[in-house]
Amino acid sequence: QALYPVFTRQEVGRHRSLADRVWVTYGSEVFDITDFVELHPGGPSKILLAAGGALEPFWAMYAVHSQEHVLEILRGYKVGELSPEEQSQPAQGDPYSGDPPRHPALKVNSLKPFNAEPPAELLTENYLTPSQLFFKRNHLPVPAVDPASYRLEVEGPGGRTLSLSLPELKSRFPKHEVTATLQCAGNRRSEMNHVRPVKGLEWGIAAISTARWGGARLRDILAYAGYGGEETGEWHVCFEGLDKDLSGSAYGASIPYGKAMACEGDVLLAYEMNGEELPRDHGYPVRVVVPGVVGARNVKWLSRVLVSREESPSHWQQNDYKGFSPSVDWDTVDFTTAPAIQELPIQSAITDPPPSATVPPGELTIKGYAWSGGGRGVIRVDVSLDGGRTWHVAEMAGEEQPPGRAWAWRLWQLTAPVPTGSTELDIVCKAVDTSYNVQPDTVEPIWNLRGVLSNAWHRVHITVAQ
Ligand code: HEM
Ligand code: MTE
Repeated sequence: QALYPVFTRQEVGRHRSLADRVWVTYGSEVFDITDFVELHPGGPSKILLAAGGALEPFWAMYAVHSQEHVLEILRGYKVGELSPEEQSQPAQGDPYSGDPPRHPALKVNSLKPFNAEPPAELLTENYLTPSQLFFKRNHLPVPAVDPASYRLEVEGPGGRTLSLSLPELKSRFPKHEVTATLQCAGNRRSEMNHVRPVKGLEWGIAAISTARWGGARLRDILAYAGYGGEETGEWHVCFEGLDKDLSGSAYGASIPYGKAMACEGDVLLAYEMNGEELPRDHGYPVRVVVPGVVGARNVKWLSRVLVSREESPSHWQQNDYKGFSPSVDWDTVDFTTAPAIQELPIQSAITDPPPSATVPPGELTIKGYAWSGGGRGVIRVDVSLDGGRTWHVAEMAGEEQPPGRAWAWRLWQLTAPVPTGSTELDIVCKAVDTSYNVQPDTVEPIWNLRGVLSNAWHRVHITVAQ
């Protein structure tokens, strides 16, 4: 066993930059991670936050690190031990201990931060997804917000700032209700992972859900703050959440000003979900709902709104949630070259039967969802039982929504005879929207390193009982 030199915490604390070398501690061990800083999958700026000190509080925040392959990397950089009198760690608080309780039926992709989707078969049981089963996508711990002291800051023209309490937000602006589907950019990422590994949470087909949202229209609030819609050129409405990482930066995102101000844009600062106050996981007390736009821009636990010439400077607007060519890898990716995802493309998936099911011969009922971004309605869902050689047209259920404002999904189903003699079925679905956009037939040509925008024909292979 190698004998390592012994250091004090003070000595470790002198190594806080690439020039002075970057040291960290984990348990009672000391590591010089200078050469790993540029290689860190979470980015150099993040890893440098721990420079000179303990990794534990940061890794408690990003539980992606509690994996053997991460510890393996760390071990490679060991340079010493902490002196015995310094080894007793101060108790580390768990930043997630204040997270709300969750429904046990959810399929958890990551516990800290909490990311989970409902079982796919439950998803299409209801047109409106019960809030407890609605998919949950958090980047950080859920903030605890006191409704009495909550204030929403809205920066008006010339920097004049409005500060709205919750009762003011509810009473000063008419309540508007919208039924809208939210979909995470990473929905169906696991199918991309089967082609080639991508970085991100392993979402199945259920990082999508629909709710009835109630709140104030963003355009009414911006008008009250002094904006009149006359801004010309490129403007953005930026949002900040109350969830902050250890460097103090809040979750943030932005949308084009035109979407925010459009009469028919239906962008809400929502305080209700399915007729009740927003649950904590979904942004209590106030979140943005941007119908037709990727989930990431629907900022939860909203603290601040401002209009800017620039998009949100947030990591999630600038360096994430963008699409790339299959040829781009982590060595060549340049996030400045791609626009931030806003409206999502046409999507559909089969929720029932589940993959690998065994069904009786005779008649088979197939169910699923279909949705498109930008308010484009779904005009048709085609379903095949033979891998895409022949097609049936599914029946659609769910509300008809006005043209250009079809914010919510359509649930569909098809009952068809199982072809006699078949022992296995390759069920496929694909949807068409009002612009006649269609889904690509395979995943390979749309593969991208972050595994976003995964919307190829959905395929489910099942067995027919003999
Ligand atoms: C991701 C290693 C320190 C923040 C990762 C991953 C590895 C890694 C291997 C990818 C994990 C996976 O996807 O399987 C390390 C090592 C560290 C370190 C060896 C210390 C020597 C930190 C610190 C922070 C941090 C101090 C935060 C302040 C993150 C984040 C991600 C990540 C946010 C996720 C990126 C994403 O996929 O969205 N890290 N890390 N890391 N790390 Fe670290
Ligand atoms: N807002 C804040 N403040 N923090 C977050 O982590 N996650 C975003 C968005 N808004 C997030 C956020 C992402 S990536 C998605 S997909 C949606 O919230 C998910 O909303 P939901 O958890 O209500 O389903």
